[in-house]
Amino acid sequence: MFLVTGATGGLGKRIVRQLREQERPVRAFVRLTSRYGELEKRGAEIFIGDLTQERDLQKALQGVQYIISAHGSNEASGGAQALDYRANIDLIDQAKATGVQHFTFISVMGADRNYEDAPVFKAKAAVEKYLQASGLNYTILRPSGFASNLLPLAEQFRKSGVYLLIGDPKTRTSIISTDDLAKLAIASATTPAAHRQTFNAGGPEILERGEIPNIFARIFKKEPILINPPLLAIDGLRAAIGLVNPELKASLGTFRTLLANEFYTTPAEVEKLESAYGIQLETVETFVRRYLSA
Ligand SMILES: NC(=O)c1ccc[n+]([C@@H]2O[C@H](COP(=O)([O-])OP(=O)(O)OC[C@H]3O[C@@H](n4cnc5c(N)ncnc54)[C@H](OP(=O)(O)O)[C@@H]3O)[C@@H](O)[C@H]2O)c1
Repeated sequence: MFLVTGATGGLGKRIVRQLREQERPVRAFVRLTSRYGELEKRGAEIFIGDLTQERDLQKALQGVQYIISAHGSNEASGGAQALDYRANIDLIDQAKATGVQHFTFISVMGADRNYEDAPVFKAKAAVEKYLQASGLNYTILRPSGFASNLLPLAEQFRKSGVYLLIGDPKTRTSIISTDDLAKLAIASATTPAAHRQTFNAGGPEILERGEIPNIFARIFKKEPILINPPLLAIDGLRAAIGLVNPELKASLGTFRTLLANEFYTTPAEVEKLESAYGIQLETVETFVRRYLSA
């Protein structure tokens, strides 16, 4: 039995879908308020709980061999400290106590770069260390941005031709297909080459962020209208928000870090990932065409 946390998220729902397509048993950890109808229809066992409640974790782990931690935080769900840090530490402790065979942790590319002003990165870095020292069999995947995040932007582009890009268009990225990442997360449990390993998990190409509207232009045969505010716009917004909501200001630090820095995989890292898992990663263009091509 697999336990998937964040099972209704962009990544988690793809993990559950793929597990069910392979007819493997999966328990989806969801909240009462989560939209879990699709997961249930696909035959996932639904466990309703709250990841911030240790008792819920304890119950959810009964009879579980493999854990995939794919949940993430936002301000409404308790923030980085409660979700990205504490819930994962508690999951790891429970996994040890119940003798789980493998733990896949979805971290973030750059978790090892000591970004000061980015609570999610700090939390992921601390969890990585804790998991590596836990004695559990584990795999840590450090993804770059998800291709599925681009789908609403591509829809918007299809209608209007408009693309909003905050910050420097020359910043490089290796966006990963969210379906590929789900595949890697599942395969980690049974791929010996992935055991006790940490991988940077980006897509197969290095793109400048400014190339994304050009990809959309090719797919939808439309000239892009680029709106490109500077990063300073985020700084102004953060300063203003900080006066009334310091927590939101802190979490915008993670967002700013994502916009201000480069997150890409080198050809050697792509080769390492593809050969460990025996998989060929798809490009952003292939991913978006699969979902949105008319
Ligand atoms: N998106 C990216 O580009 C990106 C890049 C690098 C790394 N990552 C990491 O990849 C992972 C998956 O990201 P994602 O974008 O797929 O996440 P997401 O769409 O934001 O989903 C978050 C999930 O966590 C669940 N959750 C939040 N608080 C919870 C709580 N208290 N109890 C139970 N469940 C709770 C949410 O449930 P509800 O449906 O009830 O809200 C949802 O299923 C995260 O660890 C994220 O940090 C993401």
